[in-house]
Amino acid sequence: MSPTIRQVLHETIAVFHQAHIDSPALTARMLLAQALGRPREWLAAHDDAALDESHTARIAALIGRVLAHEPLAYILGHREFYGIDLLVDPRVLIPRPETEILVDLALEHLRTQSAADAGSGGRRAGVIDVGTGSGAIAIAVCRNDQRVRVLATDISRRALELARQNARRCGCDERIQFVECDLLESLDVQADVITANLPYVTVEEIEALPPEIQEHEPRVALDGGLDGLQLVRRLLRQLGTHLRPAGLAVFEIGATQGSAALEAAQNMLPGWNAVLRKDLAGLDRVLAVQKTGRRITR
Ligand SMILES: C[S@@+](CC[C@H](N)C(=O)[O-])C[C@H]1O[C@@H](n2cnc3c(N)ncnc32)[C@H](O)[C@@H]1O
Repeated sequence: MSPTIRQVLHETIAVFHQAHIDSPALTARMLLAQALGRPREWLAAHDDAALDESHTARIAALIGRVLAHEPLAYILGHREFYGIDLLVDPRVLIPRPETEILVDLALEHLRTQSAADAGSGGRRAGVIDVGTGSGAIAIAVCRNDQRVRVLATDISRRALELARQNARRCGCDERIQFVECDLLESLDVQADVITANLPYVTVEEIEALPPEIQEHEPRVALDGGLDGLQLVRRLLRQLGTHLRPAGLAVFEIGATQGSAALEAAQNMLPGWNAVLRKDLAGLDRVLAVQKTGRRITR
């Protein structure tokens, strides 16, 4: 006899529970919904429905991928960031909720700047997103500020392919230019805001990451060198050339990197304002540096 949705769901939850998979019930529901091509709510309303062999084979294949520690976002093929549905696959880092702070800070600076510039012709603001990955930050900024144009860079050509696809799906492709390059090397551009969620995991920390991250997310999106700040330091050195006066640069950093990142900014950019911002968990998460003029508020 063919099993019902309810039976398969219970069995899947039990298997995930035993394998110590995070949020076994939610993961099982998302997986079944994906395999059946239905929304999750549909499952609850039709849990008596019988599943045929092709359905159970599809579900078994997805269960196998979860048990092999493939991240759920890659299995489902998308992840929400800043209220936007983005395609994700192993070419890009899965966007994390804590990165939304960079978007908040960028938008806030653009709003303040636009108020200060009012009456001066309303020029378009320029943002550079360095290490754009899936395009998450670039797209979120564009969707929430219609005046803005973004230059999004990444060293990974494969990541940029997916970022372009995301920008098209989100209707932002005309305002985002994607460029393959090493940080801002050899670019002749200046911006009002620079956002950078660059790799900041130390070599030692990478070895201790859970298999979902260590074995599946791109190494080039994680590896920040010996102390995690290698790329942050390199980009700090490039800010003098690429940030407009009163421009703001925001870097995502690791929770234990605050004082080292702040010290690096103060040493490399004397006379600039540099501050740390915390995430919702109260941990250091962002290094914000501003050229001159207005002080960073908040
Ligand atoms: C931590 S991921 C962040 C991706 C995306 N910004 C996000 O927040 O989800 C870092 C990204 O930086 C890129 N990257 C690494 N080294 C780089 C470099 N030297 N220049 C430009 N991009 C680089 C990686 O390919 C990866 O896409």
